[in-house]
Amino acid sequence: MEIPIKTICCIGAGYVGGPTMTMMASKCPDLNFNVVDINEERIESWNNKNLSKLPIYEPGLKELIAKTRNKNLFFSTNIKEAIESADIIFISVNTPTKTKGLGAGKSSDLKWVESSAREVAKYSKGYTIVVEKSTLPVRTAEVIENILNSAETNSSRDEISFSVLSNPEFLAEGTAINDLNNPDRVLIGGKNKQAMTALSNIYKAWVPEEKILFTNIWSSELAKLTSNAFLAQRISSINSISAICEVTGADVKEVSRAIGKDSRIGSKFLDSGPGFGGSCFKKDILNLVYLAEYFDLYEVANFWEGVVKINNWHQKRITEIVIKKLFGTISGKKIIILGFAFKANTNDTRESAAIKICKDLIDEGANLVIHDPKVNYKQIEKDLKIKQTSKENDSIETSIKGQIGQWRFSKNLDIFDNAHAILILTEWEEYKYIEWQNVVKKMVKPSWVFDSRSIVNKKEVEKAGLRLWRLGDGSQEKEVSSF
Ligand code: UDX
Ligand code: UDX
Repeated sequence: MEIPIKTICCIGAGYVGGPTMTMMASKCPDLNFNVVDINEERIESWNNKNLSKLPIYEPGLKELIAKTRNKNLFFSTNIKEAIESADIIFISVNTPTKTKGLGAGKSSDLKWVESSAREVAKYSKGYTIVVEKSTLPVRTAEVIENILNSAETNSSRDEISFSVLSNPEFLAEGTAINDLNNPDRVLIGGKNKQAMTALSNIYKAWVPEEKILFTNIWSSELAKLTSNAFLAQRISSINSISAICEVTGADVKEVSRAIGKDSRIGSKFLDSGPGFGGSCFKKDILNLVYLAEYFDLYEVANFWEGVVKINNWHQKRITEIVIKKLFGTISGKKIIILGFAFKANTNDTRESAAIKICKDLIDEGANLVIHDPKVNYKQIEKDLKIKQTSKENDSIETSIKGQIGQWRFSKNLDIFDNAHAILILTEWEEYKYIEWQNVVKKMVKPSWVFDSRSIVNKKEVEKAGLRLWRLGDGSQEKEVSSF
């Protein structure tokens, strides 16, 4: 018998919950979607009439919101009502790495998942399918099931029942709308075939059936962790090779191109950069490490922990190169930071390489001017845990002069006066079009460009008279010592 589905609830209106429900609402106009969140400010932003004020920046999102919002997609803080009326509830709350207690530094903090499950147990009515959307350690669905079946409820126990499914989301930020529209696969893990079919019917509105995979619940949970671990591993691998390129005279871009042509390796995710960031990679690998250690699989744990360790080392390596090239000291020197988001086309800074690199540069006494087209300065203040030196309208020069180890934000790119160096950390499109001929005239000589994303045109930068360091480009080393 088919389970009738009319109303969907999603707890958590973040980078995953928001775009995912928006896509579903646009593809399924006959279903109603209630997206709820405990954060009132966030919900207000989702409801803002001005679509450029949505809480997350994601290309293509505002157009979809315009089509669906207040038609069959509703954002609110009314969690109770949304749960009561739902046939399917997605749990899409955040699951940060634990900072205290058992598993601190590695395992995920499930307190928000637990409190969401308790709310579901309390307010739901009749039969409800509960879908785990957050990325979680393996066997969390079991925990959710236990909570649902034992927590306090407002209805009598014979009136309510649940099926728990795992349906991890594989979207990447910056390309979320396209990823949701054309997913490589939709993974549904569970025990109850009818519930799995009911969920798959939503996706079938736009996803070809052969892309919808049914697995057991733990395979689904582990597949998500493994996917992220494999992707992150590729980046640590290529970043480790970039260091070898720099000392041997090879160029990592050429190495990437060459190995990517091997169809067994494939060409994606081979761009060497300042180290992976984002809310998932580090957290999910550390979950895997925790899981392996828990089961006494220490070799497995060490293997995956190495991916995170290389990433940390690589970020430090970039700071050290900047210092070395600027004659061993950056104290009091003005350095321009281009890009703070963890990748282009998002305003998200979670785990961005820019955080560690900027902090280290400031610790060394550099005066940074940070530019990012989508991140706002308040977020940077939170990330660096240091306030910017002066109000946004003040001249950068007066705020920086005479002091060391500070930073300022700038919304525009008129910031190169008296700078010693420019460090590109995010691959925003607009950085490709900087007029280096003009920039060089404003900077202190020798003027450096450090390109950790390999996006600038090498010939143009060098023709303008700037010194260029590009990550993984050993061909620029004049003398490679014999080895
Ligand atoms: C997602 C996944 O859920 C997470 O597991 C994955 O690893 C990263 O991506 P994301 O959507 O990016 O998280 O997180 P975030 O943008 O922080 O959104 C989570 C939302 O849940 C926040 O808006 C928060 O206010 C909300 N929340 C949290 C609730 O509504 N209720 C809670 O009890 C806790
Ligand atoms: C990732 C996964 O791709 C996605 O499937 C999962 O659902 C969530 O985690 P996300 O973190 O949003 O998505 O972005 P992603 O494009 O994977 O980039 C992660 C980090 O790797 C970024 O800092 C990015 O700059 C870096 N990266 C990516 C590289 O340095 N080189 C590459 O070739 C690709």
